Amino acid sequence: MNYNFTQAPKRKETFSIKWSAMSMWSKYANDQTLPFWVADMDFDVAPEIIHAMKTEVDRLTFGYSAPNADYFERTQQWLERRFDWQVDTGNIRIAAGTLHGLATLINIASNPGDGIIIQSPVYHQFAELIKKHKRTLVDNPLVEDNGQYFMNFDQLETLASEPTTTMMLLCSPHNPVGRVWTADELSHISDICQRNDVVLVSDEIHADLTRIGIQHIPTAKAAVDSSHIVTLNGTGKTFNLAGMHISHTLFENDELKAQWDKVVRVTLPNPISMAAVQAAYTHCDHWVDELRQVIDDNLAFTKAYLEQHLPVVKMSIPQGTYFAWLDFRSLDLTDKKIDEIMIKEANILLEGGRAFGATGKGWQRLNLACPQSMLEEGLSRMCDAFSRYT
Ligand SMILES: Cc1ncc(COP(=O)(O)O)c(C=O)c1O
Repeated sequence: MNYNFTQAPKRKETFSIKWSAMSMWSKYANDQTLPFWVADMDFDVAPEIIHAMKTEVDRLTFGYSAPNADYFERTQQWLERRFDWQVDTGNIRIAAGTLHGLATLINIASNPGDGIIIQSPVYHQFAELIKKHKRTLVDNPLVEDNGQYFMNFDQLETLASEPTTTMMLLCSPHNPVGRVWTADELSHISDICQRNDVVLVSDEIHADLTRIGIQHIPTAKAAVDSSHIVTLNGTGKTFNLAGMHISHTLFENDELKAQWDKVVRVTLPNPISMAAVQAAYTHCDHWVDELRQVIDDNLAFTKAYLEQHLPVVKMSIPQGTYFAWLDFRSLDLTDKKIDEIMIKEANILLEGGRAFGATGKGWQRLNLACPQSMLEEGLSRMCDAFSRYT
């Protein structure tokens, strides 16, 4: 390894919500709570990125700034190198984060009351945004079979064919269950949406962090006709830059792009964020390759640890993301009780599966993008606490 993934940066008493605002998620969190909740990583950002950001700070000026041709070319080249996906730089738009992109798309491509499909259990902000924008939540729950998740295409077809359904939010790779969808699955979804005139928003913010040997496929690449697809991606998750609030929205459809441009007008992101993205997409392939190895190791470590110390909790190795999706259902405890044991007795903070929809009942999401020493301490606390209930 050329990079150090064995030390967690000190983030207590900083602006970090993961460490300093745990009470946002649980009122029982305290000074000694170890956080494994919100989706950011406890690793230092790649030195190449830090160098680029510091260079920008050293210019001592932070006036209005705009992405240049090189910025877009670096982004384009990353997508080509990592996913063999050719995009036209003219179709990339900048947003202040994936959720900002998503909210804007909901506004421009659907109307109040319209149905928007999600596939629960899924990233909780999808449902939140739909409700906040007064659209109707249409759930096409994933089907679980012994820890493996699949899509219910028959039901998806029925839901998409409802005249009121105008949009679908796809999570690819899927947070929290960790599926990396196959080319067949993606072209099937795309086909259903296209035939039913449903705009397909493919949230690919976790795309870079698949298991070694498993390839993420952009939905727009898998689709036979991609004209109804909008892709959201960026450096937030992969490089731990979520706080820099910059992400990409990629259009395949000129009309939708024109609507976006009309609503958003010019985007003038901050120069430090742009320098970070440019450095990430230019210099950090090796850093990501090493990070993927570290996450693969942490997943294997967690699975083995649970098998030895708390075998009643089941876990499958996910194909993507840095989450372990843990099945507590055989413990026969309510979700409220599981959450309470986790925080009050183990003193670790995870995200209870119920937050991801009713289908997350009995599950817990563990963010394991942290040094193995921190993970081991968390698992030890978890296993000690839950052993008392087996
Ligand atoms: C699937 C998914 N989309 C979007 C987000 C939020 O991304 P951003 O911080 O870029 O708005 C997250 C964060 O966890 C996520 O998991």
